Amino acid sequence: MNIQSTSGLSFVLVLLFSSSWAASAQNPEDFLQCLSLHSQNSTSISQVIYTPNNPSYLPILQFSIQNLRFTSSDTQKPTVIVTPSHESQISTVIKCSRTHGLQIRVRSGGHDYEGLSYVSELPFVVLDMIKFKSITVNTETRTAWVQSGSTVGELYYRIAEKSKVLGFPAGVCPTVGVGGHFSGGGYGMMLRKYGLAADNVIDARLVNVNGEILDRKSMGEDLFWAIRGGGGASFGVILEWKIKLLSVPQEVTVFTVDKTLEQNATNLVHKWQSVASKFPEDLFIGIVITRVNSTRDGEQTIQATFHSLFLGGLDRLLSLMQESFPELGLGKEDCTEMSWIESVLYIAGFPRGESLEVLLDRTPLARQLYFKAKSDYVKEPISKNGLEGIWKMFYEDEAEAAVMILSPYGGKMDEILEYALPFPHRAGNLYKIQHLVYWEEEGEVAAERHISWIRRLYSYMAPYVSKFPRAAYINYRDLDVGVNNQGNTSYAQASIWGFKYFKNNFNRLVKVKTMVDPGNFFRNEQSIPPVSLWRKKKGD
Ligand code: FDA
Repeated sequence: MNIQSTSGLSFVLVLLFSSSWAASAQNPEDFLQCLSLHSQNSTSISQVIYTPNNPSYLPILQFSIQNLRFTSSDTQKPTVIVTPSHESQISTVIKCSRTHGLQIRVRSGGHDYEGLSYVSELPFVVLDMIKFKSITVNTETRTAWVQSGSTVGELYYRIAEKSKVLGFPAGVCPTVGVGGHFSGGGYGMMLRKYGLAADNVIDARLVNVNGEILDRKSMGEDLFWAIRGGGGASFGVILEWKIKLLSVPQEVTVFTVDKTLEQNATNLVHKWQSVASKFPEDLFIGIVITRVNSTRDGEQTIQATFHSLFLGGLDRLLSLMQESFPELGLGKEDCTEMSWIESVLYIAGFPRGESLEVLLDRTPLARQLYFKAKSDYVKEPISKNGLEGIWKMFYEDEAEAAVMILSPYGGKMDEILEYALPFPHRAGNLYKIQHLVYWEEEGEVAAERHISWIRRLYSYMAPYVSKFPRAAYINYRDLDVGVNNQGNTSYAQASIWGFKYFKNNFNRLVKVKTMVDPGNFFRNEQSIPPVSLWRKKKGD
């Protein structure tokens, strides 16, 4: 690198900062100079740096934000956004952030429910992996390398381009990023057959706290274990995953059946609880609960939508349903046979015949809204009275756009040991609940009303769901279950949320963190703490 071009770039970078925002940042000029000085090619790094004065800064920041709660002008914004196009730039960002006291928030798909990939109270850099989206599918070895900035939609599309009989068990919404999704587990409609996305990761490459690039062999089995379900953000920057591709039949069968309270929804949901986790693993039937207009004028009712993917043909599905769940009254006319990739579109809510190319579109599928989510695990069927209490809460004003998603467990999820990966929610669970409340109105008052509704629902659910700990799924990030202190945190403080997400695997995650990032550089409100820091603070 030539000194003249470096100093020229530094000058330009310094000019980019106006006094208006530089005051709130932590030595931003020094940080930018550090990037240019330590980059292999200072011109190329200057092309991937966005400061608040750059007209592209806000559009880039907002592009993948899913939750409007984190788009207001009061939301803390990054000092700098970097969209690396080369791995070496990530190492440089890590080294310079460490030197200049900036935190890093790594963003892949930007779907974090609490915005942790792009919001921080301390001065920070967003490392946006949007340019890391290459996907290489090898049908002979039945494997693929997927860069972390890819979405699951892009992955499904690239697999289907090469094969009609291979698929992958990950999330339902095509715009979810594989960087966050796989590192937190990643469940979808094939979890009863093949487990989580993380269960099917066989190698990974990441940049560690020293800026070194490691693969499975060089990172070792402990760190490789930790990043498959323990949340990537505590351990480094994941560059790419190697995954196992899995068999899907030429034709699968899907159905969606709506049942309102007047159509026996309470009894059907009640029965579903004891049959859905026992179906053969080829069959996934989930339920979405919403409040809808009733057929009776001016009245509202509760609707249970039974939605299903069956990895097989229509006739077998109908006979299975006749045997185990005849009450649903599923008929031939409710079902459609299609290819697995078409089912991906169907389940994501696209109309029949939509082009597969929509899977490559990263703009959000639905109109964006404000939302808050929570999760629960159910081990015993909820009584009919218990269900009716939920319906009652869904009639409250704040629940106009509330959703409860019930996803059956069993099958492969029962076979994988609780400590095989950091994700511990395996045998013993009948189903998982995702609680969601959406709203449109801007501002604190509306947010407060809706968030307090979902908190009341969560309290109501306590007797019916898992206890000691009340388990939660890290990919449905919920800061209500506990947060770290700002800056560093103690093991005790982190245990409050850590055991809910990871049960006893939390202790192994702490050990791995202590080994790979003892100074706790990679941290956020729910990152795994290293134990050494805590000990030092307590003086032992
Ligand atoms: P984002 O970029 O926001 O990152 C999430 C977390 O991972 C952050 O802490 C971030 O720092 C970290 N991270 C991201 N990339 C990293 C990298 N390369 N290296 C290290 N750390 C990294 N879940 C599910 O299991 N099944 C589903 O079907 C769905 N569906 C769904 C739909 C919609 C609309 C939303 C908003 C969310 C979901 N989810 C989901 C939840 C989703 O799995 C969860 O939010 C993931 O963490 C999203 O990963 P992203 O990369 O998109 O998020």
